[in-house]
Amino acid sequence: MTGMEAFFEVHKDLPREGPGEPADVDWALCLADLPPDAAICDAGCGPGGDIEALLAHVPRGRVLAMDAHAPFAQAASARFAEEPRVTARPGDMAALAAQPEAPFDLIWCAGALYFLGVENGLATFRKALKPGGVVAFSEPVFLTETPSDDARAFWDGYATPTQAELRAQIGRAGYEVLGTRRVSDAAWERYYGPMEARIEALRAGADAELTRALDESAAEAAAWRRVRAETGYLLVLARPA
Ligand SMILES: C[S@@+](CC[C@H](N)C(=O)[O-])C[C@H]1O[C@@H](n2cnc3c(N)ncnc32)[C@H](O)[C@@H]1O
Repeated sequence: MTGMEAFFEVHKDLPREGPGEPADVDWALCLADLPPDAAICDAGCGPGGDIEALLAHVPRGRVLAMDAHAPFAQAASARFAEEPRVTARPGDMAALAAQPEAPFDLIWCAGALYFLGVENGLATFRKALKPGGVVAFSEPVFLTETPSDDARAFWDGYATPTQAELRAQIGRAGYEVLGTRRVSDAAWERYYGPMEARIEALRAGADAELTRALDESAAEAAAWRRVRAETGYLLVLARPA
């Protein structure tokens, strides 16, 4: 097994691939006040952990869910196989504007915008929004001006902003912030809890590469519990200014 295969073996069959909870979706969609037939894109949807909560706010709306990792998109598709309002397929969120379902009233992007970079990603998403459309995204932030080395190491080299720096990035992208909310510890546990259960289930019989991936994932969850007062995700609702 290669390192990449081992990584995705750990991350297979999880309900979600990053921190989040239905209350995050509820907060953003109440604030966004979408039309009942809204077109929503879940960009970087993972296995589709947020889709049910998104659908609940738009009784006649539709969700296009896309993820660059095809098995995640397929998991989301299988999860909503009986739901005609959901289309889930592999794809690059950098190309949202070219999707037949575009433009969107809301682009929901939980824990994935940093793959494009905040400024670049928001500029890209703008081309895929309807007039008046909004973007909701969660982004790593430091919650202190003086994060410890442990907190910096948690993000493994990513240039994690403070909340003020994130607001400046959003402003430079030409967006106004409509609201922010810290992603709760319970939302993080919704990610790490099932992952830790999978780690334990895979331990027996794991080869060296898988054991390394299991150890790294377990260490990540433990590290988050050490640094969670210093860093986390900020959920942001923003619209082009
Ligand atoms: C931290 S996970 C979050 C997944 C999901 N939103 C959730 O909360 O469960 C980030 C996801 O973004 C996806 N991703 C990264 N770059 C992408 C891109 N350019 N286009 C689409 N998806 C991407 C990854 O494959 C991964 O599933």
